[in-house]
Amino acid sequence: MGPCLSAKRILLRPETLEHDFVPDDLPRREEERLRLREAFMEFYSSSELFTSWVIIGDPGIGKTVLSKRVLRDLEKNLQKRILGAYVNCRLSRRVYMVLGELVKHVAPSVPRRGLSRFDLFNVFLEILSEKKRNALIILDELGSLFWGQEGEKAGELLYNLSRFSEKTANYVKIKIGVLAIIASHDESSLYNPQWIDKPTRISFMKNELRLRRYDKDDLFEILRYRASLAFLNGSVSDDALELIATYVAEQQGGNARIAIDILKDAGRLAEKRNDGFLGAEHVRLILSRHPTMPRFDPEFLLSLDRHKLVLLLAIVRALKRKNGGFVTRVDVEKIYRITCEEYGERPRRTTQLIKYLKELGYELRGIIQIEVSGKGQRGRSTRISINVPLGSLEDRILKILEE
Ligand SMILES: Nc1ncnc2c1ncn2[C@@H]1O[C@H](COP(=O)(O)OP(=O)(O)OP(=O)(O)O)[C@@H](O)[C@H]1O
Ligand SMILES: [Mg+2]
Repeated sequence: MGPCLSAKRILLRPETLEHDFVPDDLPRREEERLRLREAFMEFYSSSELFTSWVIIGDPGIGKTVLSKRVLRDLEKNLQKRILGAYVNCRLSRRVYMVLGELVKHVAPSVPRRGLSRFDLFNVFLEILSEKKRNALIILDELGSLFWGQEGEKAGELLYNLSRFSEKTANYVKIKIGVLAIIASHDESSLYNPQWIDKPTRISFMKNELRLRRYDKDDLFEILRYRASLAFLNGSVSDDALELIATYVAEQQGGNARIAIDILKDAGRLAEKRNDGFLGAEHVRLILSRHPTMPRFDPEFLLSLDRHKLVLLLAIVRALKRKNGGFVTRVDVEKIYRITCEEYGERPRRTTQLIKYLKELGYELRGIIQIEVSGKGQRGRSTRISINVPLGSLEDRILKILEE
């Protein structure tokens, strides 16, 4: 049987949320994209034979997608004049395998068995010369080749690439551009003289592009764009996206991969429940089960003092009433006074309340987020969000308060 006719599909193009999908735009990385594209365009029309760029940065900040997007730009602009070869060194693990991949990219049908590293490198150059094509080689996660003896071979590969023109004096002059990607935590391997000698490093690392981490605003823009590709128009609330962006910026080092995964999971959940839209509560449900979330142990609520529990209850109720991802301190304060009355607590003044909010944000780190933003004319406003489903949290608080 096909899907039920009344099923409200909103995740219309889930494939656009896969990580190997390369979108047309890269919000918040367009500057870097332009910079790389211009640099390589210049190189391919110059008389130089070799260039390399090294992209360095933390996980999930668009290094891979940026390099692939630049390759696509260049393929479009230069058409048949360049051949792109993308290799993920982490998957290949060995320099020998990396070279095999490179050959496979330029000539899928050439047999590679029985060839040495040296042979593979030469075959690669010969095929390019034969085809009269320049190359753009992307060496993703290059750092994963630097281990044990493999590190020396990796150093040798970089050396051979940067000096390839000396070995091909009789060949048609081809050009090789390299885009190497290195995770910040692997950067030190490039400075190990056992693996890479200084001249190689200098010629290889001449052009360096350091990508900064994404902040909350960056992630919001990225999520909004990716959601517009994947979801039915207007079916994803900004609050839901902002909740993901806030969580990932604050708890996950701005890793866009995690942000997109949460968006995808929340979308699937919304579809499964046939809700016809993706809102903050879907995100909270996904976050509460997310493997990267600090484990929320409901027992922990028992250790909060009673007044903070009442305050937490007020936050939950304010969020429920607003039916969104965020409430302000002012939203909470009204409900807080009523809740205090209900449980016989003396309501605190605003300054004291702000202090309690901050403490709560600290004590329930990852579960509740308190952001004091400097924006807005009317002084600083505090925005509050919760990363677990509100209904079950409320039930638990009530149970403790009523005991
Ligand atoms: N500026 C952006 N615009 C749109 N999507 C983006 C952007 N930056 C990253 N993404 C998406 O976020 C996810 C992670 O990006 P990517 O894989 O490029 O990160 P990375 O820096 O290579 O991470 P890692 O170091 O873990 O390999 C991918 O799905 C990618 O398409
Ligand atoms: Mg990557």
